[in-house]
Amino acid sequence: MNELQDLDRRHHLHPFTDHRTMHQTGTHVIVRGEGCYLIDQTGKRLLDGLAGLWCVNIGYSNPRVVQAVQQQMQQLPYYCSFFNTTTEPSIRLAHKLADLAPVRLNHTIFCNSGSEANDTALKLIRAYNKLRGKPQKTKILSRTYSYHGVTLATTSLTGLPTCYQPFDLPLPGFIHVPGPYRYGAKTTLTDEEYGQWCLSQTRDIIQKEGADTIAAMFVEPIQGAGGVIVPPKGYLSELRALLREHEILFVADEVISGFGRLGDWFASNLWDLDPDILTLAKGVTSGYLPLGATMLSDEIVETLHQGGYLAHGYTYSGHPTACACALENIAVIEDMGLIQTTREQTGPYFQKKLRALKDHPAVGEVRGCQLIGAIEIKAPGAPNTLGAKAASIARENGVIVRGIRDLIAMSPPLIITPPEIDQLFDAVHKTLDSLLI
Ligand SMILES: Cc1ncc(COP(=O)(O)O)c(C=O)c1O
Repeated sequence: MNELQDLDRRHHLHPFTDHRTMHQTGTHVIVRGEGCYLIDQTGKRLLDGLAGLWCVNIGYSNPRVVQAVQQQMQQLPYYCSFFNTTTEPSIRLAHKLADLAPVRLNHTIFCNSGSEANDTALKLIRAYNKLRGKPQKTKILSRTYSYHGVTLATTSLTGLPTCYQPFDLPLPGFIHVPGPYRYGAKTTLTDEEYGQWCLSQTRDIIQKEGADTIAAMFVEPIQGAGGVIVPPKGYLSELRALLREHEILFVADEVISGFGRLGDWFASNLWDLDPDILTLAKGVTSGYLPLGATMLSDEIVETLHQGGYLAHGYTYSGHPTACACALENIAVIEDMGLIQTTREQTGPYFQKKLRALKDHPAVGEVRGCQLIGAIEIKAPGAPNTLGAKAASIARENGVIVRGIRDLIAMSPPLIITPPEIDQLFDAVHKTLDSLLI
């Protein structure tokens, strides 16, 4: 074990890690990033098939973003947006986001992460309903297998027992309805039939709880960390209509799906979801600096304004350096045509390579959309360990993928080229072969 690994073992607690297992071998230290590649402490070069944590959309170490951050740091590294004051990058970014987001979403409150963006949405929804005379509308719906963050409230939203059970959550008033994970349900229904079943369960739960007590539903257009669960045909539009019918706000959690991964700025644009609130983080800065945001409809903001003083926000809400980073990151996405390339070239090519694996003997199912995908593994081994095992073999084969239960997930940087997609899938193929030995 080298010095860094030793210090790490003694002092550093990692997120989402079994420390006893990690300490047996020592942590994996990454030292550099170039485009789609990471270089570790031993000099090994790894193709990052997950874009960090679904976030490094423009790839690593883009010089334009590095320079924009440096320039902002030199001019004004920090000032807040409290006390009737703010800075230029936060204004320009709020304006740009209003341009890119669905038409009713013209207002942004900034924070530092996806969790905070959803937590902020939860608080503002409570304030909104209280101000419009519906304080009893407090319950919140989300779906099984969803991931919305790690604060007390957003862990309560998250529909993954491994995330909420250790903390005795969810809090009262957070209700999980079935997410459309047909493969995990081991049912004979088709995707579409299972989607319909989920909708009917959701309708029943709304009826049982009483729509007048339910404030909002949080929805990832594609459920990412829960295993890349792609909505079946018709499901999202029917869910949207159901919530509108019951005056339940629709919150699109676009923390993963925003900023190009699905071939549009937002899945809400692509699938015409017309959210009342949209939350974002990750790809807004390609992960170069922490930044999250909650975008709100004109109607919600008008009501909130009637409440006067808005007692919410963080020291770093609208941090000028993070906002300058985001503005340049968005400009890079635009100038490189990454949305169009994802939609027309790399996304379809990635999906073709993914689907070519569907008859591999170690594969139960493949699914995905544009530059996001998952492979369900069926191979010998203890349940819920095959994903981690495959991810660790894939790393030896030179690529990073994410292990979740018995599946691997991939979401490479949007700058990935067809030869790099070939490299990713060659390594994944080799990994799947070795799971059968
Ligand atoms: C859909 C979604 N929402 C929220 C979050 C939480 O974001 P953060 O880790 O920045 O708090 C994540 C993180 O993976 C996510 O995937």
